[in-house]
Amino acid sequence: MRTDDKRMIQALRRQPLDRPPFWYMRQAGRYLPEYREIRKNARNFLDFCYTPDLAVEVTLQPLRRYAMDAAILFSDILVIPDALGQKVEFREGEGPVLEPVRSVEALAGLDRARVLDHLGPVFETLGRLSREIPEETALIGFAGAPWTVAVYMVEGRGGTECGTARTWAYRDAEGFQQLIDLLVDATGDYLCQQVESGAEVIQLFDSWAGVLSESQFRRWVIEPNRRLVEILRARHPDVPVIGFPRNAGALYGEFIEATGVDGVSLDHGVPLDWIRDTVQPRCTPQGNLDNHLLIAGGAELDRAVEESLQTLSGGPSIFNLGHGILPSTPPEHVARVSEIIRGWSHGGT
Ligand code: CP3
Repeated sequence: MRTDDKRMIQALRRQPLDRPPFWYMRQAGRYLPEYREIRKNARNFLDFCYTPDLAVEVTLQPLRRYAMDAAILFSDILVIPDALGQKVEFREGEGPVLEPVRSVEALAGLDRARVLDHLGPVFETLGRLSREIPEETALIGFAGAPWTVAVYMVEGRGGTECGTARTWAYRDAEGFQQLIDLLVDATGDYLCQQVESGAEVIQLFDSWAGVLSESQFRRWVIEPNRRLVEILRARHPDVPVIGFPRNAGALYGEFIEATGVDGVSLDHGVPLDWIRDTVQPRCTPQGNLDNHLLIAGGAELDRAVEESLQTLSGGPSIFNLGHGILPSTPPEHVARVSEIIRGWSHGGT
């Protein structure tokens, strides 16, 4: 099937559809027993991402169960610091640990010229996926947006208030800008090559956007995302881009206007009526079921899925979660949601 005829692409181009496309952030991962089985064979998570045989297989696993409308490349946002030459490790039960970069001087150890070579296996994975996924499925490539990747590079880990990065960015904005500029350039190279390898949609994950003040949000979230959209459009004008400035609150509207994204992924705190009235007329919304409701399941899950479908039925949308699937999610709940969406068409089931 041509890219133009895939449901996911049609939603991002605002074409009318009988039901919205669906996929789930983190749809490949530890909630699936078949993922845990393969993961046992690779001790090191980055090696796992850089082994096309394994990365292709785990990308396909959730599609076999749920037949989503999109496959997302199996990789991680932290392959960019790794490719630039920073020390990155994923520790069991602890998540990512990086040797922190906390000064302009430390940037000298990072090299944009290494990135495309280092990430060769990721491009091979995309090429193989574009041939192996079901023909109606769209292939999503992705990267972390510069601010979120910078948070991990500076803090050395996730799950913090991002205080070291925010303080550096206030104290020495010009120095911090050099880190962001390096990330914009390296990520731009990486994403263009993803498209050239088979990606049909790009998602930019800015998972830590919501910790910033208004002025920092403009400079470190809006502006770098805008530049990445511009770099992609210059080389690949037809490839839709989805932004994910998680927890942006009152700044979602400005993010959409200023970056020119085709789609925006919304966290579960954003009211459906507001999405319908404010986002949908300008940009395709993606989201925004609470990932903990997917763990809980039951009648409340069915109700929330139907309410989302119903409320957004007057315009384009993509069904997804507000954040990624968590490891304790029962696969049957994912099956249930997928079944409701597939059986839904305007006017209800
Ligand atoms: O299915 C998919 O969505 C594709 C693969 C994917 C992964 N990470 C695989 C992964 C994607 C799109 C990501 C994005 C990612 N990685 C983000 C942005 C989205 C978000 O969740 O906010 C972030 C912040 C990361 C960084 C990261 N990677 C952390 C903090 C962790 C540890 C926490 C955890 O969930 O384990 C990872 C590890 C990771 N990335 C795993 C997977 C499947 C688990 C690793 C394992 O199997 O041991």
